[in-house]
Amino acid sequence: MPIRTQLTGCGAYLPERIVTNADLAHVIDTSDDWIRQRTGICERRVAAEGEKTSDIALHAAQAALENAGRQATDIDLIVLATSTPDETFPATATRVQHALGITRGAAFDVQAVCSGFVYGLAVADNFIRCGQANRALVIGAETYSRILDWQDRTTCVLFGDGGGAVVLERGEGEGDKADTGILSTHIYSDGRHHDALYVDGGPSSTQTTGHLRMQGREVFRHAVTNMAEAIDAALAHNKVAESEIDWLVPHQANSRIIEAMARKLSMPMERVIMTVDRHANTSSASIPLALNEGMQDGRIGKGDLVLMEAMGGGFTWGSALVRL
Ligand code: ACO
Repeated sequence: MPIRTQLTGCGAYLPERIVTNADLAHVIDTSDDWIRQRTGICERRVAAEGEKTSDIALHAAQAALENAGRQATDIDLIVLATSTPDETFPATATRVQHALGITRGAAFDVQAVCSGFVYGLAVADNFIRCGQANRALVIGAETYSRILDWQDRTTCVLFGDGGGAVVLERGEGEGDKADTGILSTHIYSDGRHHDALYVDGGPSSTQTTGHLRMQGREVFRHAVTNMAEAIDAALAHNKVAESEIDWLVPHQANSRIIEAMARKLSMPMERVIMTVDRHANTSSASIPLALNEGMQDGRIGKGDLVLMEAMGGGFTWGSALVRL
């Protein structure tokens, strides 16, 4: 029987501090109306002083393990998607591995910006299906508040901090779309679009951390087309019709982009998990944060077919089709 990677648990963590649009309007030239109308964002979380990406990732991982009914020592692979690591090296994943008390297997970071969680799912699924890992934690965790230029109103209003995680385990299936587990992942990148979304610093270029820079319109223009490509690939690969998708769990960058994707799939917004209003764009954390919300409040149930899609700096983009 073919190996199918099962998603057996999900967890998430948000820093305590809430920053509303009105709070931002006190310090930069913006308004609650402008941010809400263009993006759907009302508020975001910001990590406390000293609270690092690894701390956020650890909380999310512990919640996912508890949800899966697993011990940390059951895990033999940690894939941590982040663009805001604690340090240039070692991988933040190794900090999480140590904090969980795991001393076997491998832990490493994946850098694919807002597509990081989908990339992480793809990496872990392939490791499991090749037999090189049995139980994996895939984590998306970010502290974008640390790389934002808080004087730049065109970017700083858009992002937030947070983390989410899933436990993946080796299982079996028939090899068709009725199986539970990860049915497919499709990931893509195109480096020609570097200048549309990047951080203007790094160890090898400026020896500084740098700040996020974005041409919003350019990103918006490509986002819908690219994510549609990844969705079409998932549907065609699995011979799944749009009407068979139970839930869309999209990357949460902007409500207008999410609504455009739902329209493309002819899905009513009641079947789309939306958290961008409260979380803003948490990059690689946004999909597991949204998935966790949908699973914990009972909307997403066992057997449901869930489509995830994302697009981010690079550009990178991709999709994952998972039956829970
Ligand atoms: N408050 C008030 N006014 C603002 C703000 C702000 N925070 N930011 C920009 N403006 C002004 C601009 O200066 C401009 O003013 P001008 O006409 O006098 O020059 C005006 O608003 C319009 O600016 P645009 O950038 O053209 O606004 P647009 O309608 O394109 O919306 C936005 C900008 C929200 C960034 C949109 O382009 C977008 O959502 N793009 C997608 C980007 C994204 O989501 N990136 C996330 C990372 S990638 C991913 O996750 C998909």
